[in-house]
Amino acid sequence: MIYPIVAYGDPVLKKKASPIDKDFEGLSQLIEDMYETMENAHGVGLAAPQIGKAIRIFIVDASPFAEEGEPDYEVLKDFKKTFINAQIIEEVGEPWAFNEGCLSIPEIREDVFRKPKVTIRYFDENFNEFNETFEGLPARIIQHEYDHIEGILFTDRLSTLRKRLLKGKLSNISKGKIVADYRMRFPLK
Ligand code: NI
Repeated sequence: MIYPIVAYGDPVLKKKASPIDKDFEGLSQLIEDMYETMENAHGVGLAAPQIGKAIRIFIVDASPFAEEGEPDYEVLKDFKKTFINAQIIEEVGEPWAFNEGCLSIPEIREDVFRKPKVTIRYFDENFNEFNETFEGLPARIIQHEYDHIEGILFTDRLSTLRKRLLKGKLSNISKGKIVADYRMRFPLK
């Protein structure tokens, strides 16, 4: 099932999401639906709050970034993972800029600074626990999605000036005055 994606301005995107337990009802179906929803929208990541659920699940898929012949091709093409109850342990290195976008904020892309290396503890879809370190684009996608389960959007990380310049566009998104090639749910429409 493809869920509509919740647009900027919906309170669920500002909420800190809650952990779930192993017996969470319908978990495997929900994860399957999240992959279907992400793929339908051509996203590289999707967090449960973006389908209206304030729980600590997000999925990532870096394969759209994988370009044959590039040195990180192998890493990116297979980087598809489910993160449940994730906790970032540490982020290290000199912050670097990457032009980020978000399925909940269509038509806006901005440079966001984040540290290049992230260590994260999480459970996979079978509730196996992992403690892993990621770098580069995989780290970047994880940090963006992790922010979602903490109630943070990439626009929250922009300068006051950038935020002010984007205000009108963001309010149009909340009102549904945009065109997205996937189904969305708008808080002010
Ligand atoms: Ni996002």
